Amino acid sequence: MKRRTALRLSVLGGATMAARMMVDPVRATERSIGPVGVPRFDLPLKIPPVLEPVARSDAHDEYHIVQRAAAQEILPGRPTTIWGYQGLFPGPTIRVRRNRAAVVRHTNQLSTHTVVHLHGGAVPADSDGFATDMVTPGASRTYTYPNRQRAATLWYHDHAMDRTGENVFRGLAGFYIIEDDEDLALPLPRGPFDVPLVFQDRAFNADGSFAYDTGRHNGFEGDVMLVNGVPWPKMEVSARKYRFRFLNGSNARLLQLTLNGTEPITLIGTEGGLLSQPVLITTLPLAMAERADVVIDFSRYDVGTKLFLMNVAEKPTFAQIMRFDVVRREADDSRVPSRLSDPAFLERPKTATTRTWSLRAGLRFGEGLPPIAWTINGKPFDPNRSDAAIALGDVELWRFRNEAPLGLPLRVLARPHPTHVHLAHFQILERNGKPPLAHERGWKDTVALDGIEDVLVLLRFSQFRGRYLLHCHNLEHEDHAMMARFDVT
Ligand code: C2O
Ligand code: CU
Ligand code: CU
Repeated sequence: MKRRTALRLSVLGGATMAARMMVDPVRATERSIGPVGVPRFDLPLKIPPVLEPVARSDAHDEYHIVQRAAAQEILPGRPTTIWGYQGLFPGPTIRVRRNRAAVVRHTNQLSTHTVVHLHGGAVPADSDGFATDMVTPGASRTYTYPNRQRAATLWYHDHAMDRTGENVFRGLAGFYIIEDDEDLALPLPRGPFDVPLVFQDRAFNADGSFAYDTGRHNGFEGDVMLVNGVPWPKMEVSARKYRFRFLNGSNARLLQLTLNGTEPITLIGTEGGLLSQPVLITTLPLAMAERADVVIDFSRYDVGTKLFLMNVAEKPTFAQIMRFDVVRREADDSRVPSRLSDPAFLERPKTATTRTWSLRAGLRFGEGLPPIAWTINGKPFDPNRSDAAIALGDVELWRFRNEAPLGLPLRVLARPHPTHVHLAHFQILERNGKPPLAHERGWKDTVALDGIEDVLVLLRFSQFRGRYLLHCHNLEHEDHAMMARFDVT
């Protein structure tokens, strides 16, 4: 709570400021040195190492992670102090098998409070990383992940109340991949051809340290794009198929991905696992915390071809994220089958509890308060207040609404809110009264709400009782109270 109080004191109010904050996309701090001089498409992509268990028993695998500061050379010659799981940014990848539990013990050797959340995991409440379940500096906590869910690309990241944005920005995030027999039996690209890619924008000071400011109410955007912690990397690929697990791990940057603008990408999975069948796309919107499993077939290109993964939501100068250089021919016996999986979707029930969650900025007037609180149903987050009680096993319809302040139907005043639910994955039934977009017709745990959009989802609350969170995954919005608690009883 201290951090929020400090923030209130540091941000001075006033209607002009409020208006500016709502319409200005805010970029990096003044202190940031900007992207000039950072190499582009020169540094090789790195793949985060896979974490080995420290012990295995019949029932589970045990892992130990130390959260610590470390110097990491992100910008050549200017080491950055990162806060990392095992001292790495991004953290090591945890790869597990379905129905085999992982017990992960975290030791906090940082000078800040931390909380670990497994994003996309169906996890008992005391292991879910509730925002106030802090691990204080020097302390440890053990999290148990049952992995009783479909194969999917998850991620683990910090979730400490009021400071998630800073903790994640400084490095506390990593991949968590669940595999299962169904996925492993498919002839998809595997091993070195199954590559996780996390996209994160960052800003730097002249000495190489991260430049971060939680006071950016619209969310903190950097000016250097990193993939797996490497600025604008290049990846040498063979002329064959690769599976990529895309994660938008940015605090506040929306992505609209393309391969060289128009090249084909085959979408095979969303946050909750494989789709029933592959979908051919050329653009892939990916909001913060959204994941997409895709296959790219580089055998379509001659050796020597260079292709850019682009974020076409940006101006051309900043649009290129990374480059794939096709450097060799290679045999490829992988393929994308026309039938991938049975996602076992739910039937839309005739009657079900329907809840509306309205996300909006609230103007507030009070001494020392910032002029804007990000709210859900008009209320800022209070860990002691439950906003919904749901019976275990229930299927509910939830409507997420992005509303402009004061109920004004002005798209320009509403910020995008990628809305995320813990515990329960969901099916999107309607986006603005129409069918969901092509890339969001699988199980999801995060959905982008742009402008004054309205999304209806169907979810089932199974496996665990307890308190869980629902929030905007713009991490500065989350830290500035755009979060709600629900209880499964
Ligand atoms: Cu990825 Cu509650 O968060
Ligand atoms: Cu989550
Ligand atoms: Cu938001």
